[in-house]
Formats: sequence, C-alpha cells, structure tokens
Amino acid sequence: MKVSFKELGLVNTREMFAKAIKGGYAIPAFNFNNMEQLQAIIQASAETKSPVILQVSKGARNYANQTLLRYMAQGAVEYAKELGWKKPQIVLHLDHGDSYELCKSCVDFGFSSVMIDGSALPYDENVKLTRKVVNYAHKYDVTVEAELGVLAGVEDEVSSEVSHYTKPEEVIDFVKKTKCDSLAISIGTSHGAYKFTPEQCTRDPKTGRLVPPPLAFDVLKAIEKKLPGFPIVLHGSSSVPQEYVDMCNKYGGNLPNAVGIPEEQLRKAAKSAVCKINIDSDSRLAMTAAIRKHLAENPGHFDPRQYLKPAREEMKKMYIHKIVNVLGSNGKAR
Ligand code: G3H
Ligand code: 13P
Ligand code: ZN
Repeated sequence: MKVSFKELGLVNTREMFAKAIKGGYAIPAFNFNNMEQLQAIIQASAETKSPVILQVSKGARNYANQTLLRYMAQGAVEYAKELGWKKPQIVLHLDHGDSYELCKSCVDFGFSSVMIDGSALPYDENVKLTRKVVNYAHKYDVTVEAELGVLAGVEDEVSSEVSHYTKPEEVIDFVKKTKCDSLAISIGTSHGAYKFTPEQCTRDPKTGRLVPPPLAFDVLKAIEKKLPGFPIVLHGSSSVPQEYVDMCNKYGGNLPNAVGIPEEQLRKAAKSAVCKINIDSDSRLAMTAAIRKHLAENPGHFDPRQYLKPAREEMKKMYIHKIVNVLGSNGKAR
C-alpha cells in the first residue's frame, strides 16, 4: 500500500531550499543508521529549531533495514513535537539512490525526497535515468536530487577513485532536460574520513597538521552563474574534527592522516547557492571517539546504555555545532 510523506508529517525540500538560498544558509543533511544517531539529530534540530534532512544510504539500508528506518523517521516527527518543536521541518531522503526501482519504492513508502545518483553514468544515460525518476516522484510531490560530476574518496558503499569536477557548461542542459529539484556537484569534496592524501595537502608548521587543498570555488561560482537561484548540494562535507581523530587514536584507535573539509570553507559555501550539506563521517567519528574513551575509562561497563549515552551526547554536541556555527540553519524552522 502506498503512503504519502504528507501523512507522516514529513516535508519535501522545495520550500526549505528556496528559503535557504535567499537567507544565505544551508540545510544539514545528516545520515542515520541507528536510534542513537537519530535521537541526537532530532534533539539538536529541535533545540536549535533547524530544518533537517534525515538521510538513508545504501549502507544504512543494509545495516538497519529500510522499513525500520522509515518507521523510525516517522517516529522522529512525533518525538520532535514531544521535545517542544511545534512545527518540525523534517525531510526523509534517500541518499545515493542507484536505480529507478529503488527511488520509486522510496516514493511509494513515504520518503519525501530522493537522490538518483547517475553521476558515474555517461551524460545522456544520467539525464535519461534522472528524468525517469523525476517524472515519477513529481506525481507525488517528492523532490529529486541529481548529481553531475564525480567525487573522489573511498567509503563502504560509495567509492570512486577519481574526482571530476562538475562541468559548468553542462548544468543548464542537465537541469532543463531532467527537471531535477537540486543538483549535487563535485568541487573537491569527497566521502569518508580520508578526503585527501598527505601528498595532496600541505602541513601547518605550528601544529604539524595536514592542511587540505581549497575547494574549487571558481567552479561553484561558474555553476551559480549558469543556474541563478537553483539549489546546489555538497556531498562529502564532513570536516573530520581533529579532536575526535585524536580521541580515537588516544584510546586504542588507528586513524592516521584522517582529514576533512575545513569548516570555514563550508561556511563560505553555505552562504552561496549551496543549500544542502551532507555530513555522515563526523557523526561516526564523534560516536566512536566517545565510546572508545568511555570503555577505556570504565573497563567494567558492559551495559550498552552506559557507553551509548555519552556517544549520543557527543553527536548531539557536534550536530548543534554544525547547525549553529557552520551551516547557519538555526532558528529557520520555528
Ligand atoms: O554518501 C555516503 C554516506 O556516508 C553513506 O555511506 O553507504 O557507508 O552508509 P554508507
Ligand atoms: P561525509 O563522508 O563527508 O560525511 O559525506 C557524507 C555524504 O556525502 C552522504 O551522502
Ligand atoms: Zn554522498
């Protein structure tokens, strides 16, 4: 049986993105795989009154089950209201959908937004697939994110060894032909906690830390010029906070040279037509760092609630920081 996202209290991205572009901020798109992540995301969004996009990836579906995750998102709307957020603005989004059938099943099942990622396909095939998904999704007012250009980086389910920046000369034709609602672009971000090799970075002489190369803001500018006011999406936008990397390494982890996108660059991007910023790895790092610390300091603990509680607190702190200090979406969903 089909269900509309509207019956679940969810919203699509249309209005949210229009406001974000006008207001010079970006909407956080946080991935979730488990209850603690979802609780932390909703608590952070409710406290800051920030619109939020809950993302379900292929890895999440394999790990937690798509049905369960969808019901969790439905429950999250009620939870948000319980926390005193009168009009929660929550999107349930399929992250990196890889087929028409998958996108269709998510539309039918109550997702309010889907991504069709045809970025690895030849241009014409990407157009054709995206158009097919848009045709179906729009019948139900579900918004569609598409992608042009290829991100570098390695992650469980999303991997690509090379990075090809989005070609500004292609974007008008692509958006016209596909009628997608937003466009993910490649300007130097990448998935995972190892976004750049040490050879691609310089080193800060004072701290010895790796300093990544800057994002290609010239490409972003050229795209904005071609598509004025059109919503742009950045994937692979974790900043890989070094305090979490250090905490993991201090308590038995081994994450050498993990490096992300500096937050000041994301702040700059959020002020432009970039109105959705995807963050997953930072949540993984916050959770793992807090769990490692807790277990190292409390070797007798074996009740998962004992170490998941501080992990949830750490994620919540991180989400609030992103919302308030990086994306600027606080107070935009009152
Ligand atoms: O874009 C990639 C996300 O970080 C999800 O990765 O498929 O391993 O859950 P995942
Ligand atoms: P990060 O790995 O940088 O968190 O990117 C997440 C992402 O793009 C999800 O689609
Ligand atoms: Zn992604």
